[in-house]
Amino acid sequence: MGSYTGEDYTKTLESISAQTSPIFRPAGEEDLARIRELALPTQTRTVEQVIGEMNDIYSFRARVGHPRFLTAIPSVATPASWLGDILASAFNAFSGVWLGGPGIATIELELIAWLAAQIGLPASAGGIFVSGGSVANLTAMTAARDQRLKQDDRGKGIIYFSDETHFCVPKALRILGFFDHQMRKIPSDKKFSMDVAKLEEAIVADKSQGLVPFLIVANCGTTNTGAIDPMDEIADLAQEHNMWLHVDGAYGASVALSGQYRSLVAGLRRADSVAWDAHKWLFQTFGCAITLVRDRKHLAESFTLSGDYLQDTVSGEDQPNLFNYGIELTRPARHMRLWFSLRVLGADTIAQMIDHGFLVAAAAEAKLATLEHWKITSPARLSTITFRFCPEGMDEDTADQLNGIISRDALEQNIAMIQTTQVHGQTSLRVCSINPLTTVACMEQIIEQLHVIACKSALEL
Ligand SMILES: Cc1ncc(COP(=O)(O)O)c(C=O)c1O
Repeated sequence: MGSYTGEDYTKTLESISAQTSPIFRPAGEEDLARIRELALPTQTRTVEQVIGEMNDIYSFRARVGHPRFLTAIPSVATPASWLGDILASAFNAFSGVWLGGPGIATIELELIAWLAAQIGLPASAGGIFVSGGSVANLTAMTAARDQRLKQDDRGKGIIYFSDETHFCVPKALRILGFFDHQMRKIPSDKKFSMDVAKLEEAIVADKSQGLVPFLIVANCGTTNTGAIDPMDEIADLAQEHNMWLHVDGAYGASVALSGQYRSLVAGLRRADSVAWDAHKWLFQTFGCAITLVRDRKHLAESFTLSGDYLQDTVSGEDQPNLFNYGIELTRPARHMRLWFSLRVLGADTIAQMIDHGFLVAAAAEAKLATLEHWKITSPARLSTITFRFCPEGMDEDTADQLNGIISRDALEQNIAMIQTTQVHGQTSLRVCSINPLTTVACMEQIIEQLHVIACKSALEL
């Protein structure tokens, strides 16, 4: 196995175009007016003309695969993923029922079993590919509700998650019929991980009020700082109170496939269910995520329903109709792009690509430590680090404003797309470095360029 370097990727067409193009191209009023004209059906036009229009429309965008796009959780689709996605769209197989494509359904089941094994779930585990982390969380928490809460108790059910949890979790809980007053936001500790003592206190207090704690959602990689909740301790507590442990691993579950860091996420093996985005750190095109459950029958128990018009679709334990595992009936073969990528690149290369993200975040931290006036507001964790420029004597509000300016100017100068966030109430710059195209040298250069902007802007404030 050759060792992975960012150089491998700079050879691809994507990288060539990414390096020479703007990270973000905003659309002005005139552009939008022109695009509005293109929106509606018209007399026929040639394919070439419409491709031209499509290029125009798409030219205004954030290039999420650009090596200097470091905001959100970048989606860095490998060329293998694009090709797998394009081919899957071309075949356009109906993946809701076994008969729609026994071959692709077999691959989905096998891939799910392999992914579940990687995070240490038992052979009973199962799951389904879905469109994203939000839907993966929703799907898993539906099973949690149905397994651990009697229908008569729905009004009394209580769910616990930390104040660092992604908003898609409470959103999914609302969709599932829970009210905000049934959700407990447990404070995080200084390292942004759920405070388990406070969690326990809250569960005990709710039980004493006759409420029914049934679900804990733990984070495996928070969006803001890359924190991992203490999954083993939380699992012990869940077990003690007969509660379901769901883990939002949309970002961090991929670390289970890393070469060097997989032990960080060993606690995933304790989960009753896991949400995992392949369109984040598994380098897939958008619309590819996974819901895993410890026992696949738990998904089937929540989602199995059918109609007379489907009576001819065979189904059985070994040949399931996958619409019985999730929300969608008509569904594309979302998993085939991941399968394609794993077959082309191999798991070892993916492991090295994941490890690279850790390396680059650590390099950013090391570089910042050599420069004056930078404060690390959350250290490099997974591939995420947050920091802020705050010269001595500058008041907090001015520093907040200054860091917003640094973010804005860095984008205007095409240095990097790095947006701000709040960390312990301070406006901070947040970098997520999962892109294998972002080399250590590139990251160090970006930090130096931010420093120049910061020093200049501080003088002008
Ligand atoms: C930790 C975490 N959970 C859930 C989500 C939602 O995933 P998606 O955007 O794929 O719906 C995100 C997205 O950024 C995330 O970072």
